Amino acid sequence: MSGQIAAWHAEHLNFARLLRLFEEQVMRFAAAETPDYDLMRDIVFYLNNFPDVHHHRYEDEVFERVARLDASLRPLADRLVQEHRVIAACGARLLELVESVIGGAVVARAEVEAAAASYLVYYRAHLEAEEGRMLPRVAALLREADWQEVAEAVTRKSRGDPLFGPAAEERFRRLRHEIEREAAGAAASR
Ligand SMILES: [Fe+2]
Ligand SMILES: [Fe+2]
Repeated sequence: MSGQIAAWHAEHLNFARLLRLFEEQVMRFAAAETPDYDLMRDIVFYLNNFPDVHHHRYEDEVFERVARLDASLRPLADRLVQEHRVIAACGARLLELVESVIGGAVVARAEVEAAAASYLVYYRAHLEAEEGRMLPRVAALLREADWQEVAEAVTRKSRGDPLFGPAAEERFRRLRHEIEREAAGAAASR
């Protein structure tokens, strides 16, 4: 197993571990118990912020490359890329719901349960398709030079630092303002 495939597989094992923790909370719905919403939030927040941004971007590059090398993989590659978008959208909605519950809003239990259970099933099916059907083909098809190109393409597309970088995100506007204010105050007191 190449280093890249081993690292990729290891990330999947981490995600699967998180999904098992998540499943324990989903099962509480079935048992009419109250799930640990803080834990659910932490898991979904992580999944929305690391895999959705980094892991999936990397995979999108790899899948595009293997589909070009072997056209029979095109339908599977396109499906998996589409699933990344669906996972991101469902994850964002689920996080919203869980945060509403934590914030004390009246949210229908059945709505949170359905969103959580669907997310779990969908995410697992996605990981299984990648592990069972895609990784073995990628391992057989990509050479060292391909992996190098994937790494370069991912770096080019990376949004960079969302707070201090040139592509700084709008949601950090206030924080940037606070940093500038603090810096101006420090300069004036010199
Ligand atoms: Fe994926
Ligand atoms: Fe993956």
